[in-house]
Amino acid sequence: MNFSDKNVIITGGSAGIGLATVKTFIEKGANVLITGRNADTLRAASESINSPKLKTLSSDTSKLADISRLAETVAASGNRVDVLVLNAGIAKQYSIEDTTEEVFDDLYNINVKGLFFTLQKLIPHLSEGASVVLISSGVSVSGYAQMGAYAATKSAVDAIARTAATELADRKIRVNVVAPGLTDTPMNQQTPPDIKNAIAAAVPLKRIGQAEEIANAIVFLSSNEASYISGSYLAVDGGVTIRR
Ligand SMILES: NC(=O)c1ccc[n+]([C@@H]2O[C@H](COP(=O)([O-])OP(=O)(O)OC[C@H]3O[C@@H](n4cnc5c(N)ncnc54)[C@H](OP(=O)(O)O)[C@@H]3O)[C@@H](O)[C@H]2O)c1
Repeated sequence: MNFSDKNVIITGGSAGIGLATVKTFIEKGANVLITGRNADTLRAASESINSPKLKTLSSDTSKLADISRLAETVAASGNRVDVLVLNAGIAKQYSIEDTTEEVFDDLYNINVKGLFFTLQKLIPHLSEGASVVLISSGVSVSGYAQMGAYAATKSAVDAIARTAATELADRKIRVNVVAPGLTDTPMNQQTPPDIKNAIAAAVPLKRIGQAEEIANAIVFLSSNEASYISGSYLAVDGGVTIRR
């Protein structure tokens, strides 16, 4: 897979799955622009990648003004976007009974509204034949406890992807979903080891995922090798959704 001279945007590219995806794209020759809220985390990501091919932009995907700034940055560069990875997201675990309006709004503003309007504002900048990958989660098609609002945001992501795959097909733009299972990233730093072990035990491959394994799926779906794949939902979860 070769991404020489391809322009890639990854929202939430400063940590976890996004950062692993940046590394893989850069190794394959791409120019990559990443977003994130925290300037220190963006700087640390930039230092760890240490490549002139990586650019960063401090941008909160839940703020429409920040999304517009991202689109203006792309327009000012004069470059088309060949790959767009809509990855920025947060997770919060509450039962339906314990979910407050604030928790619900945070999840929806970042995972759904932010993703939707980032896609909308960048559609005019996508090249013919571009690839868009939306990061969902296995919980979008499962029924885990404590995940009601988060899972609902990810089901919304799946729905947005299906519509986008249909609407953008006449420009030969492919749109796909990657749905990770539990993956070892900063998002899960606070998850106690015994909970992680219990989750791993329920996975057919008997372990949780690594960010690089999710990145490989994102990069594959963005490549010419996936030229006839659009509208797909790719579970990258060690087989856990077999049992849903
Ligand atoms: N890890 C898992 O087990 C797992 C499983 C299934 C699905 N996923 C999904 O995979 C995606 C990446 O998760 P991850 O585990 O890599 O998370 P992570 O380690 O917490 O990293 C999240 C990235 O998104 C950025 N981000 C968060 N909110 C943002 C906002 N409002 N605007 C812009 N950037 C924002 C973060 O930077 P800042 O905090 O600086 O903004 C960071 O770069 C998410 O959509 C998540 O729902 C993760």
